[in-house]
Amino acid sequence: MSPITSITEDALTQASQALRAGRLVAIPTETVYGLAALATSSQAVADIYSLKSRPEFNPLISHVSSKEQAEQFGVFSDQAHQLANAFWPGPLTLVMKKKPECFISDLVTAGLPTLALRVPDHAQSRALIDLVGSPLAAPSANPSQGISPTRAQDVAHAFKDDPRLAMILDGGPCSVGLESTIIDVSTDVPTLLRPGGLTIEQIQGIIGPINFYKDGGGISAPGQMKRHYAPSKPLRLNVAQPLEDEAYLCFGPQNHTYQHSLNLSQKACVREAACNLFYMMRSLDQGPCPKIAVQSIPMHSLGFAINDRLKRASA
Ligand code: TXA
Ligand code: MG
Repeated sequence: MSPITSITEDALTQASQALRAGRLVAIPTETVYGLAALATSSQAVADIYSLKSRPEFNPLISHVSSKEQAEQFGVFSDQAHQLANAFWPGPLTLVMKKKPECFISDLVTAGLPTLALRVPDHAQSRALIDLVGSPLAAPSANPSQGISPTRAQDVAHAFKDDPRLAMILDGGPCSVGLESTIIDVSTDVPTLLRPGGLTIEQIQGIIGPINFYKDGGGISAPGQMKRHYAPSKPLRLNVAQPLEDEAYLCFGPQNHTYQHSLNLSQKACVREAACNLFYMMRSLDQGPCPKIAVQSIPMHSLGFAINDRLKRASA
């Protein structure tokens, strides 16, 4: 049985009932598909961790339908207001101190005094959050460390027969294709914890210079694991010429004719490459070659986040 469901009013009602009953629902967002549960229910959130085999010290993002709803749970600094006003709904997650009255489960925040909040740029998922009447905790809907899902079928491939997942809402392919950019705004100078679908240039354009989180620099970004977003096959980066046993993930105009090759963007557009990255990594992972080689991708704009994902996928 495949629980992939087109999004209708009925489907949203059914999904909201399932969530309120403590079950999991996969939801589309502009970045990647999320595996959602009622953020106030420890039992439901515990199912997210077990279904994904995710370590419980790695906290989850709470998805809300508006900035007003976010303000019920988190303490907004001036910079948090500026960023939320500029980029919500959109691929930006803000980490801020929890309000004392915040009733989101401690399992969502992994016991931290801070909370990650985001308003997804997907009208139907925001409508679902409103129907449920509570924030939804949602990590990417893939087994821990695997490739993130950008289509409903990717979620079904991983989880379709698990009874904990009530349904997969099909909102079509994700328009951004990379996870949200995460900024910690709980400190005086905001810190980038994870590059993602919103560029650093866009963020600095609103709030000026920010700090950059460094791997090994403490527990403030518990999810920044070295190996992540990984295909099952070995991945080699910055390759100009693939070996015989390697499928080739290339970027920009090409004059070769490798048989097992996919192009992230013929016209060398990093935004298009971001959108194709996980889908193409997944296709090559399922293809006949035992290894994957990737051409170098420029570091500008979304290229920074693409290179972050590739580095972790190859670790
Ligand atoms: O685009 C996205 O952000 C997607 C969609 C579904 O919204 N979600 C997503 O969730 O990527 P996930 O669980 O794969 O990544 C959440 C990241 C983790 O790296 C986690 O460590 C970090 O958010 N995080 C959550 N709460 C945090 C906190 N209080 N402090 C620092 N990092 C936090
Ligand atoms: Mg993830």
